[in-house]
Amino acid sequence: MAKDIDWGSLGFGYVQTDKRFVANYKDGKWDEGSLVDDPMVTMSECAGVLQYAQTCFEGLKAYRTEDGKVVCFRPDLNASRMADSCRRLEMPVFPEERFVQAVVDTVKANLDYVPPYGSGATLYIRPYEFGINPVIGVKPADDYQFRMFCTPVGPYFKGGVKPIVIRVSDFDRAAPKGTGHIKAGLNYAMSLHAIVDAHNKGYAENLYPDSATRTKVEETGGANFIFITKDGTLVTPKSDTILPSITRRSLMVVAEKYLGMKVEHREVFLDELSDFAECGLCGTAAVISPVGKIDDHGKEICFPSGMEDMGPWTKKLYDTLTGIQMGRIEAPEGWIKVIAE
Ligand SMILES: Cc1ncc(COP(=O)(O)O)c(C=O)c1O
Repeated sequence: MAKDIDWGSLGFGYVQTDKRFVANYKDGKWDEGSLVDDPMVTMSECAGVLQYAQTCFEGLKAYRTEDGKVVCFRPDLNASRMADSCRRLEMPVFPEERFVQAVVDTVKANLDYVPPYGSGATLYIRPYEFGINPVIGVKPADDYQFRMFCTPVGPYFKGGVKPIVIRVSDFDRAAPKGTGHIKAGLNYAMSLHAIVDAHNKGYAENLYPDSATRTKVEETGGANFIFITKDGTLVTPKSDTILPSITRRSLMVVAEKYLGMKVEHREVFLDELSDFAECGLCGTAAVISPVGKIDDHGKEICFPSGMEDMGPWTKKLYDTLTGIQMGRIEAPEGWIKVIAE
């Protein structure tokens, strides 16, 4: 029985669900792991995660499709990205096939929280891992916990999609050779001041330029960029210091294989922004948020797609990818993991 939730009025917040997956790493190995009822985590006051932020996470969604199945989108890519995050943070990798199985088990155990097709709401899945034993000298923890919970989240765009205004940030997100390419909690902690400051000044997001030269577009605090040229080419910034977005990588395939667009994955310079016809932010949460205007220290770049609606190419990309996720359009091999028929 679906839970008695007003799916349309859900925001992007935490709603406690019935079961979560927990596995522990101790004495150099992972235990079996299990689904548990208790949403609380108990740990030492000196746990590695609390002292030195040794933690990383992932985010993906489960959807109810038009024909009533429950599916999730490319969980294998979340598993491998989390493995990369763990290696960079000197944390043991929770095996990738077990990660995918845990996604299936966690969603299956909370099927009643998967929002109905057409509601716009989805089930957000949050895998994460952290150092749990006491650590006082700066070093990796010995023991770790891997957890995964899910929470229903509402439609990202309530009452229609409106293009947003963002600014070029003076704060840095990622250092060269740093941790920008992984999903480490520390990247998000240090972005909080920048986003609060942006919001206080009326901007929805920060565009972080590369911190070495401040001439190239990297990403925002939680999404990669896509740009469309006036002749309909999809351009996405290439950099070693941005998080490899699964949505962006999927959109590149959709653009080329489904829409016949040319795709360029290359360095994008701030001073070429005004040449583009459309701009968007892509990620699991919103799929694509259209950007209408970028403020670069008083110089305004207004995209021809305007402030009223998504640009035409952005809309086609959005409709095609969400169509694939919701089962209306045939997916490329291996993109959809069926959890329940
Ligand atoms: C910094 C950052 N970039 C990009 C993304 C988008 O990645 P994905 O498409 O895998 O959700 C996210 C979040 O999900 C993010 O936190």
